[in-house]
Amino acid sequence: MSTVELPAVSREVRLAAYPEGDVTLDHFAFGESELSAPGPGEVVVRNDWMTLGSVARDQMNPATKLPIPIFQPGVAMWGRTVGTVVASNSDLLAVGDLVEHFLGWREYATGDAHGFFKRDRALLPGPEYYLSQGPTAWHGMVGTAGVGEGDTVFVSGATNGVGALAGQIAKLRGAKRVIGSTGSKEKIDFLVDELGFDAAFDYHEGPVAEQLAELAPDGLDVVFDNVGGEQFEAAVQVAARGARFALCGALAGQHGGDGGSPRLPLMQAITKDLTLRGFATLHTPDQIEEWNARFGPWLAEGRIVFPHTVVEGGTAALPEAFLGLLERRYSGTVLVRMS
Ligand SMILES: NC(=O)c1ccc[n+]([C@@H]2O[C@H](COP(=O)([O-])OP(=O)(O)OC[C@H]3O[C@@H](n4cnc5c(N)ncnc54)[C@H](OP(=O)(O)O)[C@@H]3O)[C@@H](O)[C@H]2O)c1
Repeated sequence: MSTVELPAVSREVRLAAYPEGDVTLDHFAFGESELSAPGPGEVVVRNDWMTLGSVARDQMNPATKLPIPIFQPGVAMWGRTVGTVVASNSDLLAVGDLVEHFLGWREYATGDAHGFFKRDRALLPGPEYYLSQGPTAWHGMVGTAGVGEGDTVFVSGATNGVGALAGQIAKLRGAKRVIGSTGSKEKIDFLVDELGFDAAFDYHEGPVAEQLAELAPDGLDVVFDNVGGEQFEAAVQVAARGARFALCGALAGQHGGDGGSPRLPLMQAITKDLTLRGFATLHTPDQIEEWNARFGPWLAEGRIVFPHTVVEGGTAALPEAFLGLLERRYSGTVLVRMS
């Protein structure tokens, strides 16, 4: 067994109670777990970066229909993380290896080596790039909507981790025009000036259908929907004949509200011959490897950027950072530096 000196305890964030309305700092509690040498087949990993997303709000709701385990009161929360192996009692991983795993919200993670997936430090510019939402953006934009040459595309929730990559992927696949919705002037500038969107609008500034119709006078061919609610309804109204919808998320209803379930004008969907397809990216090894094999070279060639916001402060900063996400303070993938 190889190891470096381990601290006696690992600090972690636990769910204190399920929120019934808004999430506050009272819904989180800090705790410590004893850290010991790994048992047979196990490794200990120092968490270096973790990512936060709205999905964690769903996991705080015992009634959620999401096909992933919810958080349990009094128990450490979990989420996508990358870290470095600091002790190994397994032939699969060595001290110093970079690994991706799901035991976030804590300083150190201990477990069976099969639950930690080795990553190549040389493939991407930094370990945190492995936490991109690229597998989802690619699956939805290419695998589900089949975006291609000449398409006019609408991405709702375009500045978040998924949307910011989905729009860039559409451009890389030859889309003629990519339009994004977001929540502020600053984020509109970010989409157009930094990510290469052709146009963007603020969904607070008037009816979404009117803003969309103005920006896409010939209609939408592809819709990548992260939001649901009014934005989905507007996209159906503005869709061109034969438009393909990739249904990715329902942010309008994910933060405890009920705005995520839009009304579908059936006769429009029928007469326009629309395809409405949901998709779930389960981050299988195939999906992750396919994405990273594209992402690395595209980054190196300057053809794509990884939009992200870094929050400093490690485990202690996680609850506050999560509230910041729910308050829509960030752009791109939200990354917390853990070490
Ligand atoms: N289908 C799949 O396999 C799959 C996989 C992963 C994630 N997802 C889903 O994809 C979506 C995006 O995930 P993410 O982690 O990238 O996003 P995220 O970081 O959770 O998104 C946060 C951003 O979304 C926007 N937003 C929040 N509430 C909104 C609302 N009510 N209406 C409009 N915009 C709102 C805000 O930006 P603005 O300031 O622009 O409003 C906010 O900054 C989520 O719905 C997530 O559950 C799906």
